[in-house]
Amino acid sequence: NTEAGLAAAAAVNVDEITARRRMRRSRGADWSRRLVRETRLTVDDLIWPIFIVPGTNISEPISAMPGVNRLSVDRAVEAARMAADLGIPALATFPNVELERRDQTGSLALEADNLINQATRAIKQAVPDIGVITDVALDPFTDHGHDGILRDGEIVNDETVRAIAAAAVHQADAGSDIIAPSDMMDGRIGAIRQALDAAGHQNVAIMSYATKFASACYGPYREAINTSGLLKGDKRSYYLDPSNAMEAVRDAALDVEEGADMLMVKPGLPYLDICRALKDNFGLPTFAYQVSGEYSMVKAADAAGYIDGERIMLETLLAFKRAGCDGILTYFAPEAARLIAKGLG
Ligand code: PBG
Repeated sequence: NTEAGLAAAAAVNVDEITARRRMRRSRGADWSRRLVRETRLTVDDLIWPIFIVPGTNISEPISAMPGVNRLSVDRAVEAARMAADLGIPALATFPNVELERRDQTGSLALEADNLINQATRAIKQAVPDIGVITDVALDPFTDHGHDGILRDGEIVNDETVRAIAAAAVHQADAGSDIIAPSDMMDGRIGAIRQALDAAGHQNVAIMSYATKFASACYGPYREAINTSGLLKGDKRSYYLDPSNAMEAVRDAALDVEEGADMLMVKPGLPYLDICRALKDNFGLPTFAYQVSGEYSMVKAADAAGYIDGERIMLETLLAFKRAGCDGILTYFAPEAARLIAKGLG
């Protein structure tokens, strides 16, 4: 009855219940919270993806990604310098080439002096101390927006793998430090490794987009590189099904066997379970790509006044660290670096 319940509530001896284990002891003071902190976000964890366009002195906003601009190579060099000054270890570059230069097989990907390779050369020459990670996939160069060669309604695997390996050699020749294949074809990691080694690029690393899911979070990116209007169908015949964690681990295991130096999970926040699984299973340097849709959701909600964008940003980045990631590809990188420098990380 109520009376007995209220009497018991008044007489509760919490010490007995907690058996002298009170979790709040270490949370009481700032010094103590700092002392017991398990994970930290530092500027060393950040990789900054940037978009490159042809031309000079161009910095054009991307409407679906507030605060992110497409940069011509000269402006990308300036961005690289700024990133290096902030202490950001590496950039990841993505090209937005003219629509009329895109074709069925993405042949521009195999041109030694294409936009992405021009950007790498310019950045490595001007800012040699920043790492350059180049995405290798055909989608910025195909007229159908797919990551591979499209034939009779099918994305053909093996021919795409050969094209991607060739594109990777050109990227390494241009000075790319890390090749990051984002196409999800079978066998691409082994093929790229063989081709790089044969070209004398033994020291160029491979960061595999090992587990890339067929996600709805890539929308703003497709606007950024102008593939949204082109894409015929979807990418479910080669990207992973968001339902499948075991399959993701098996896929990553093949990449490890084939010689991947680093693994990446993409998208990021909805896939923290995969980050943890890859880190625990393989122990390789593991990265999350906090993709365009994740970025834009935070920006939009912040602009609407629904959330504190800065705090959410730092919390999401920290969550990747807690989930076992060694670093994060994030459009927030410069913003986050500035906040971390102010001691807010
Ligand atoms: C495709 C590729 C994608 C992204 C980078 N490379 C996905 C896609 O368009 O299907 C997405 C990055 C982002 O959303 O930030 N090779």
